[in-house]
Amino acid sequence: MMRIGVLASGRGSNFQAILDGIREKQIDGEVVALVVDSPEAGAIARAQAAGIPYFVVERKDFAGKAEMDGRIVEILEGKRADLVVLAGYMRIVGKELLGKFEGRMINIHPSLLPSFPGLDAQKQAFGHGAKVSGCTVHFVDGGTDTGPIIEQVPVYIGDCRDAHEVAERILPYEHKAMRTVVGNFSKGKYVVEGRRVRYEGGL
Ligand code: GAR
Repeated sequence: MMRIGVLASGRGSNFQAILDGIREKQIDGEVVALVVDSPEAGAIARAQAAGIPYFVVERKDFAGKAEMDGRIVEILEGKRADLVVLAGYMRIVGKELLGKFEGRMINIHPSLLPSFPGLDAQKQAFGHGAKVSGCTVHFVDGGTDTGPIIEQVPVYIGDCRDAHEVAERILPYEHKAMRTVVGNFSKGKYVVEGRRVRYEGGL
């Protein structure tokens, strides 16, 4: 069974999608730790409801980013996480953390990368007048939303009236993509060849 560590900052609906995928056996694994960077994160209540250990790691409690990331490494290694999922984690992952989990750390982003990386991707897509956007699950590398792409789902947004509607339209596809990718990780492996990612094995 794959041991999954999840990092989140907010509502935690993508974290919930992982929990749902586990419950419905789409994912052969367990979440061994939720790490949040704010005590306000809605994800905490979801962890509590599911009986999953959670850790609040706030930037203000550390001298620097490296120290903060060091604490997260300690938690994830302590829980022997095989895969680390950034599920709405709104911070750049430093090299201390990434270095320990490179090739085993994935992120979900609410646009079709490489369009609209960084913050407020749905607002960026709406503002740009894009007719199609979507979501991307990708490996985390040293850049901002630049790692090899694992899965993408296009979503029509041409009739959306504001950025909020774009976000709402894309979100259920994020949940589905998250479950698919984490499920695949738990049952086979992704092979990275340059920028291309291929799935091997599993169901
Ligand atoms: C999701 O839309 C996720 O794609 C996005 O934040 C939201 C978190 O929602 N992530 C990013 O923008 C990363 N840069 P959730 O807390 O309900 O999963």
